[in-house]
Amino acid sequence: MPAPSLDSLVSLCKRRGFVFPGSEIYGGLANTWDLGPLGAEMKNRIKQQWWKTFVHKRLDMVGLDAAILMNKKVWEASGHVSNFADPLVECRHCHGRFRGDKLLEPKIGTEAAAILKLDQMKEMLAAEKIVCPTCGEKNWTEAKKFNMMFKTNQGVVEDEAALVYLRPETAQGIFVNFKSIVDTMRMRLPFGVGQIGKAFRNEITPGNFTFRTREFEQMEIEYFFDPEKTDWKKLYEEWKNLGWSFLTATLGIDPKNLRFRDHEKDELSHYSKGTTDIEYHFPFGWGELCGAVAYRTDFDLKQHEKFSGQEMSYTDPDDPKHKLIPHVMEPSYGSDRIMLAALLDAYTEEKLENGETRVVMKLKPEIAPVDIAILPLSKKENLINKAQELYKKVVQETDLVVDFDVTGSIGKRYRRQDEIGTPKCITVDFGTIGEDEKQGAKDTVTIRDRDSLKQERVSVEKIVGRLK
Ligand code: GAP
Repeated sequence: MPAPSLDSLVSLCKRRGFVFPGSEIYGGLANTWDLGPLGAEMKNRIKQQWWKTFVHKRLDMVGLDAAILMNKKVWEASGHVSNFADPLVECRHCHGRFRGDKLLEPKIGTEAAAILKLDQMKEMLAAEKIVCPTCGEKNWTEAKKFNMMFKTNQGVVEDEAALVYLRPETAQGIFVNFKSIVDTMRMRLPFGVGQIGKAFRNEITPGNFTFRTREFEQMEIEYFFDPEKTDWKKLYEEWKNLGWSFLTATLGIDPKNLRFRDHEKDELSHYSKGTTDIEYHFPFGWGELCGAVAYRTDFDLKQHEKFSGQEMSYTDPDDPKHKLIPHVMEPSYGSDRIMLAALLDAYTEEKLENGETRVVMKLKPEIAPVDIAILPLSKKENLINKAQELYKKVVQETDLVVDFDVTGSIGKRYRRQDEIGTPKCITVDFGTIGEDEKQGAKDTVTIRDRDSLKQERVSVEKIVGRLK
């Protein structure tokens, strides 16, 4: 049974140390979330899997870590200063401000809402009898464009010259470094650059836990190619499938909860010739999980050439007369949203034979925050010592993340490990220390499997080999 509601996941995340409300001791800051110790481990693992899959395991890819603050001309060139806006409507009664398209989505669907023009929004809100979520009135203003970039000032003078934006996507860091990467890394087309980092958007309607926040993290790829030599439609399909397989085979998300969604022509961003999202079936409906691929053509590099005055072309090393501005495919993933989907997908409630309900996070072991928990059956000194010896052995001889828990009954400790998705628990008992043969032979421990609940007895000597 999947998570019955977002609330049950939010509560588990807080209770077990995955996600805490931001600035909580000061009454919070709306829609900000801090990753607790387990959330930080899990998100790091998702990012490591992504980096391994798309950067380390491919000869045609390299990584980058560009600055968040960039020259403001970057955002003029990319079109964000003039185009990166959502339709804002205001309730005339309570002055609440909302995204017009999001208010309409439940009535007219995502696609139809996304292509509505600004001057159609007020009429549509009235026709669909959309009420203000805050006060219940139906008195809307005309929609206007609201730019979502966060502004700040660099240095000590707060004037227009010092204006900088917090980057709203990581992608532009890749475009502005294109030439340096080609020159230093001797990359040949087709090749890609991957980057993981924070992005910031002053969203009008954040919400649904970590689904839509104003500070989030992206994992983006710009894959550069020569359209005369590479068939863009084939490349487009390839990146769609790579995204699907990353989410399902690598991260373990159930394909039944995923679907592709091609953007309608009117919905495409100003730079895109084709965009396909992968959507996840969230408790609040289908929603964009990631951009599987967007064909951005040569728009960005051309714009940067125009605005910076620097040449952005690539010269074919085998044919120096062939110079071009490469085209680009962009797969764009949000690590926070993917973590949310992976948690929802893993959340399972099982009825046990004794009538109790067990909550278990069936996370793929590769992204579970803890690999192994070592649990001494009691707090008796020689038993704890033996368990600590085993802990040291496992952390020294493997790269596994190991938890060591002595607090509470063994049943409660198993329940905690199930709820955080620990794939294996090792119990050190009186058999292990040679004090009770009925529990097991001396120098053996019990390994318990999270999903099947099967327990087996393994000798301490062989444990590292087994865990590896
Ligand atoms: N460079 C292209 C780009 O940024 P996008 O569809 O706006 O495309 C890509 O964003 C991904 O970033 C989304 O699919 C989502 O996973 C994540 N994302 C975007 N806005 C977000 C937000 N406000 N909160 C959390 N994740 C977000």
